[in-house]
Amino acid sequence: MSVYLDGQFLPLAEAKVSPLDRGFVFGDGVYELVPVYSRKPFRLEEHLRRLQGSLDGIRLANPHGVARWCELVEQLIALQDFDDQSVYLQITRGTPESGQTPRDHAFPLGVAPTVFMFSQPLVSATLAQKEAGVCAITAPDIRWGRCDIKAISLLANVLARQQAVEAGCAETVMLRDGFLSEGAASNIFAVKNGVLLAPPPSLLILTGITYDVVLELAAAHGIPSALRSISEAELRGVDELWMTSSTKEIMPIVRLDGTPVGNGKQGPMARQMDALYQQFKQQVMRA
Ligand code: PDD
Repeated sequence: MSVYLDGQFLPLAEAKVSPLDRGFVFGDGVYELVPVYSRKPFRLEEHLRRLQGSLDGIRLANPHGVARWCELVEQLIALQDFDDQSVYLQITRGTPESGQTPRDHAFPLGVAPTVFMFSQPLVSATLAQKEAGVCAITAPDIRWGRCDIKAISLLANVLARQQAVEAGCAETVMLRDGFLSEGAASNIFAVKNGVLLAPPPSLLILTGITYDVVLELAAAHGIPSALRSISEAELRGVDELWMTSSTKEIMPIVRLDGTPVGNGKQGPMARQMDALYQQFKQQVMRA
């Protein structure tokens, strides 16, 4: 597998990072995950814009301009022997140099960031899998106050997702102070009485690229939608619940904490939105 590390494409086995890297020691870095269909990155500019927002959020200068990032992503894609990919890119605050304190919370001065990228096959859910949907559990959202930053420090998300796996489920839907925030690695949409609902963008959720596409498609096709807080009580009485992300696209959640959501199957709006999403993807990929 060919990966990218600090200016070079090289076999994974040759990619070496110091154990003193701030990413390893502090989780001091940010990332993006870009879906690639038939070797074309989907919504790359939007991912790069969000990356800039994350870098600004942690006060780390962007090592590359948009054009250079696009080139690097294209080169990485071309080096893989599979067409549908999920490209991971990560930037950390780098490794303190000799003569600098090896571990100090404060930023090291004059250190180059570490840039790492790799790609893995993207396996999209089949129609049958979407029809069947997945189950989810709920758990308190124990994360920090800047969940809008796509930070590599994902301990709370990791613990939440593991809890889902141990319950035989696909996702954990997180609640903060009695209100829906998002999934461990996804945004959550609900449908009630024909209206698509989701929490609005805030510091307490990651505004997904998929989330934005879903809302754009809803607006373009006359599907009523509202961005507002959703209480736990309301969440437990919705007609449909979906998780959305770059890798899962629009996946219906059909059981929540063991209770069927709506009629316990993929709902009509999920089916419609998935069709619109697939159509939109095709359109973008042809462009
Ligand atoms: N995660 N919220 C969280 C906490 C996420 O980790 C993700 C995606 C999303 C959805 O964002 P997007 O639609 O841009 O993928 C929301 C990625 C897939 C990951 O960490 O693997």
